Amino acid sequence: MNNFTYSIPTVIHFGKGMISHLTELTESGKNVLLVYGGGSIKRSGLYDTAKKILSDVQLVVTELPGVEPNPRIETVRRGVKLCKENNIDMVLAIGGGSTIDCAKVVAAGAKYDGDAWDLVLDGSKITAALPVYSVLTLSATGSEMDEFAVISDLSKNEKWGTGSDLVKPKMSILDPEYTYTVSPKQTSAGTADMMSHIFENYFTNVKGAAVQARLCEGLLKTLIQYAPIALKHPTDYEARANLMWVGSLAINGLLSDGADVTWCVHPMEHELSAFYDITHGEGLAILTPFWMDFALNEQTAAKFAEYGRNVWNLSIKDDDMTVAKQAIACTREFFKKMNLPASLHEVGIDDTYFDIMAQKAADGSVGSFVPLSKEDIISIFRAAL
Ligand code: NZQ
Ligand code: ZN
Repeated sequence: MNNFTYSIPTVIHFGKGMISHLTELTESGKNVLLVYGGGSIKRSGLYDTAKKILSDVQLVVTELPGVEPNPRIETVRRGVKLCKENNIDMVLAIGGGSTIDCAKVVAAGAKYDGDAWDLVLDGSKITAALPVYSVLTLSATGSEMDEFAVISDLSKNEKWGTGSDLVKPKMSILDPEYTYTVSPKQTSAGTADMMSHIFENYFTNVKGAAVQARLCEGLLKTLIQYAPIALKHPTDYEARANLMWVGSLAINGLLSDGADVTWCVHPMEHELSAFYDITHGEGLAILTPFWMDFALNEQTAAKFAEYGRNVWNLSIKDDDMTVAKQAIACTREFFKKMNLPASLHEVGIDDTYFDIMAQKAADGSVGSFVPLSKEDIISIFRAAL
């Protein structure tokens, strides 16, 4: 296990009725920018509940509605302007990962003199930020408890992740009941996203990071158990609660710190979203099994077999390569059971932009378990067609 410093400042209030903790926003001042998406929080009644609590404690609310899935830099800029014009003290996101990500960059942009896109391209330019709070309504990204934000400029087919400790939420409210209204499509996509976050951390060459590996396996088993239940019974509290907590733990550093991970499927997927504006989790569900096929070889078979035996309860007697292949088949089968797409053409993607997408993905480092070149990425895209 490698050295690491583990630090999470985010206070989590988890469970039914925890929305009452919104009163704690008074600790950060008086003026709140309320950030939300396309209307799901109005339909569910959460918007009215939150507005009443904020008004009861005399907080003054300015609104940034309409954050898009795959949030756009234009919306971030609108938010920054509102912060500067209204003397905003804190940013409250109510929604899924897109809303929280947008809120994070708005919070940083409010303290920055230049254009917020600079902060997306280079997280080290975030030197100050307004406090960020969130009420999560979709189990997926883990943005409620991490330092990352992913913002798109679709006019340039750009989608990049940025990050800073300064935008980690100060407090996040996780009430699983707020996820009852999440559609089957988004429930499945969110599950694939959480699984991918865990895979990105699990497949590492670092020896002896056993705590991280066993945590990964436990979280994967939890998703495999509960995601189909949430799909069939959207208001099953136990299922929604387990999905929600897995989402936060999958990407808050618990699984990655000390395990030296460089992600690979995510950079590939972000290119698909940047060019085709597809749902992040669906892109991951398509690419993941093909990445596994590509990454499996004599050197990596033992790790895939460990995954197969510990997550899918596959035979301890069969040889590693056999178990590894079965584990990949189980992964495919699970995504199919969750009604996730299994090929790029199902989400309207052909090979038109493979070269440029692979080039852009390969511009950063892609993967440490099995490092990927531009050509490797193209061959994974081709297999996934
Ligand atoms: O916009 P509204 O009306 O709220 O509807 C949203 C949206 O249409 C809807 N939704 C959310 N909660 C709901 C609900 N519908 C009914 N009931 C509810 N309770 O779901 C749709 C998708 O929402 P979105 O926020 O886009 O989904 P998600 O949470 O999956 O976020 C995806 C974004 O996060 C980025 C992705 O790339 C993508 O841009 N990521 C962020 C990460 C991070 N911050 O750490 C890491 C991830 O790997 C990921 O890249
Ligand atoms: Zn993700």
